[in-house]
Amino acid sequence: MNGRKKVAVLISGRGSNMMSLISAAMAPDYPAEIALVLSNKPEAGGLQRADDLGIKTAVVDHREYKGDREAFERAVNAILRDNGIELVVLAGFMRLLTPYLVNEWRERMINIHPALLPSFKGLNTHERALDEGVKLHGATVHFVSAEMDDGPIIAQGAVPVLDSDTPDSLAARVLSVEHQIYPRALELVASGKARVKGQRVAISGGSEPSDPTFLIAP
Ligand code: GAR
Repeated sequence: MNGRKKVAVLISGRGSNMMSLISAAMAPDYPAEIALVLSNKPEAGGLQRADDLGIKTAVVDHREYKGDREAFERAVNAILRDNGIELVVLAGFMRLLTPYLVNEWRERMINIHPALLPSFKGLNTHERALDEGVKLHGATVHFVSAEMDDGPIIAQGAVPVLDSDTPDSLAARVLSVEHQIYPRALELVASGKARVKGQRVAISGGSEPSDPTFLIAP
């Protein structure tokens, strides 16, 4: 397909969301190609998985920048530019971003967070969801803004919370919904069907296959 958007996936770990995006992008009519996988950690397991599939990888080790977040981000940005990247997808990229990178990629950078935002921003979302006794939990894909885990919401997937859940069992259920919503959300953004309108994202093009919501039955 002509006009596929060139996407960089930024990771810090095992890269299971990255894999779901790579496999979705193998479909010939998918509107994005995964052109680069970049990690801030050389030991991230996802780098090897991407490399095994013939996808270009890069590492910018944040520890070499000794706390200078913007210098780290300038190095990342140079690689994104050199590779002609058009959209940036954060998939378990565990660095707080400065306004520099956020502004460089405004409305062209998306993130997945393992909670139904705006609930449970930050870390340990599954443990906190259990502590609060919520009955629905899930994941959110959103455009990245200057605030952490904030920005216009593109897609959400919800899962039930069971009495028997532990943080690990809940995390596994949420992860499976992450793997469904992230490829769908990227498809909406790359095709131009998801557009930011103020604080909200408007989705054009009818319901299926553009529907940005998922509810996984118990
Ligand atoms: C995912 O659950 C993702 O939502 C979360 O990290 C995990 C990465 O897993 N991201 C955040 O917590 C960002 N605040 P993966 O490497 O297997 O995709």
